[in-house]
Amino acid sequence: MPFNATITGLGAYVPERRLTNADLERMVDTSDEWIVTRTGIRERRIADPAEGTSHLAKRAAREAIAQAGIEPEELDLIIVATSTPDLTFPPTAALVQGGLGAKRAAAFDLNAVCSGFLQAYVTAAQFIQTGAYRHVLVIGAETLSRIVDYEDRSTCILFGDGAGAAVLSRTSEDVGLIDFVLHADGTRAGLVYCPSPTSPEATLKSIGGIAKPTIRQDGRAVFKFAVNGMSESVLTLLERNGLRSEDVRLLVPHQANLRIMTAVAERVGVPVERTANCIAEYGNTSAATIPLALHKWFHTEGLQKGDLVVFTAFASGFLWGAALLRWGM
Ligand code: UT7
Repeated sequence: MPFNATITGLGAYVPERRLTNADLERMVDTSDEWIVTRTGIRERRIADPAEGTSHLAKRAAREAIAQAGIEPEELDLIIVATSTPDLTFPPTAALVQGGLGAKRAAAFDLNAVCSGFLQAYVTAAQFIQTGAYRHVLVIGAETLSRIVDYEDRSTCILFGDGAGAAVLSRTSEDVGLIDFVLHADGTRAGLVYCPSPTSPEATLKSIGGIAKPTIRQDGRAVFKFAVNGMSESVLTLLERNGLRSEDVRLLVPHQANLRIMTAVAERVGVPVERTANCIAEYGNTSAATIPLALHKWFHTEGLQKGDLVVFTAFASGFLWGAALLRWGM
């Protein structure tokens, strides 16, 4: 690889409004005790009606750009990972590019649902490693509250809104993305899905879905695949890079359920004390969970240059995978 691609800036933004477990107790037949025990979630953030995914994304992006010490005009590419774009088109990345004044940057959205940030991060690194680009902004941003059915207690307790961003920059130092695995199994599309208002009946039939444009899932089935998929991805990366779990300074798993995160940490042998966690305060923010959890860890626990970090995610699709990187800040 001619160049390495390392994270030089992180940013995070969540809306002001909190939706607590006590609020949900007044909306559906649930309890704080059930939610905390089964998921680890205590509250989530909900976007203001005037706030779209692009607004959240821009707030997170500005912080990441400032930390990277560059101007928006220096960005070569912006990738927004989201499954809740402001519009069907243009892509949210174009709205972000225009809003930031990133005049030279190309822009596209990437929809890989809860593995969106992982896939966008790996994609961004390819552009840098080949020498094509110097600075790429990657954002995971969602307004999931717009596609949640607040009458369905099995899903409405899980999801929230938020955005996390990272600037990846070219470096000749021995830091940045080392290796990754990405997988897909589209035969299981019906296990967690969200139709659009225009979804064809034939597609819905093929996945055993219904037309209502809100998130639906078979939580119990997804749970098992999520634990297996993320654990196996991380173990593959460790094995083929000659690493032991003790070598991993930080595991950053997708934040869908604290029980899933704990099970993954146990299986791969990384103690929960070295596992990034922001699920209690934000719930599942899909593409935003990994950068939000990483941002929180970086600003509370800290990371040293040279630390080995692993991202892992599992998503509707199914899509799953992991990335191994050497911290460079
Ligand atoms: O982001 C990627 C995709 N999504 C995921 O990774 C989610 C993976 N799955 C999960 O996180 C968990 O399966 C859930 C949190 C969704 C559900 O937890 P669970 O421990 O698997 O519960 P369950 O679905 O097996 O339901 C157990 C019981 C059921 O009642 P019965 O049939 O035992 O009487 C549910 O009706 O809990 C009931 N239940 C609730 N009770 C109180 C379901 N939701 C609630 C609720 N409050 N909110």
